[in-house]
Amino acid sequence: MSQYRNVVCKLLVIGWIFTGSAIAQTEPQRPTQTLLPHVAVLATGGTIAGTGTSETQSTGYKPGVLTADALLKSVPSLGKVAQVSGEQVSNVGSENITNEILLKLAKRINQLLAQPDIAGVVVTHGTDTLEETAYFLNLVVKSDKPVVLTGSMRPSTAISADGPSNILQAVTVAASPTARGRGVMIVLNDRIGSARYTTKTNATTLDTFRSPDDGYLGTLIDNVPHFETAVAKLQTTQTPFDVSKLDSLPEVDIIYGHQNDGGYLYDAAVAHGARGIVVAGVGAGSESLLTLPSIRKAVDKGVIVVRSSRIGNGYIPEDPAYIGLLGDNLNPQKARILLMLALTVTNNPERVQDMLHQF
Ligand code: DGL
Repeated sequence: MSQYRNVVCKLLVIGWIFTGSAIAQTEPQRPTQTLLPHVAVLATGGTIAGTGTSETQSTGYKPGVLTADALLKSVPSLGKVAQVSGEQVSNVGSENITNEILLKLAKRINQLLAQPDIAGVVVTHGTDTLEETAYFLNLVVKSDKPVVLTGSMRPSTAISADGPSNILQAVTVAASPTARGRGVMIVLNDRIGSARYTTKTNATTLDTFRSPDDGYLGTLIDNVPHFETAVAKLQTTQTPFDVSKLDSLPEVDIIYGHQNDGGYLYDAAVAHGARGIVVAGVGAGSESLLTLPSIRKAVDKGVIVVRSSRIGNGYIPEDPAYIGLLGDNLNPQKARILLMLALTVTNNPERVQDMLHQF
């Protein structure tokens, strides 16, 4: 009897092992821990990579010193929100970002975002022209995956340097599925802003990036992104611009309006070969009577002139007293970015005007 019981027990154990292994083979492998999204961080320089000589120095320091790897190492908690990899695209103050760097950056981002394993991209950048790069990318990135630009107002050596927390927040947004399809974003100081509407408003203070009339897209609370609004203009995959075919961008200059403006800078821009000129006009894009003959000459030579406002805020209305297309509510530096790209696909003023309103 006990022999019979032993045999039954052995058969039951063998049966259990076989059943178990059969289940192990047919059920999908469950990962022991959830894989974190992969975010690529592209470094271009700026204060965030800058070093000073004391903890209080927050002007006159050297921008663009730390490498991409050093920036990532300065934020150990990044490993909790994403798998990150760093690449150096340039290491310059953002006043030295050229069209060549813009094109190189955009092409690399499109390559990275086409990879299924990449969830999003972060670009570290000097704050001075960060909004120009952000808006350029907003017009040429061909993906709905998040692209986030960040920087800092204090160099890495300063007390309470804002770089590490801005990198953590930017990577968190880039890794977040809720950030998809929102266009290129600017993340600093707990705020999530759109490339279209966010601008630098103060030369030295920490809270410099604002979206004056149109509000932020959202806020980070406890390092969790909370989105509130969306941009209605067309962006990223909805634009006709294709950087993969471009090695250079057309020359577009900005000319700043002021009292007693003699207009000769327009002549100089045309003589230099500008294909477009953005007028940073006074008020709602008004142009001095003294400048009109030079602006007319430029238009007659085929140069596309766009009126914007040196105020940096507000719509440009139609006004037969002045010359040029309407820059919508783009500030002059963003109108220049759009005009450069528009001129890569058309010289037709009506088409350029449509783009100025649509994007
Ligand atoms: N020269 C500036 C630049 O890289 C430094 C300012 C900054 O990054 O905040 O834009």
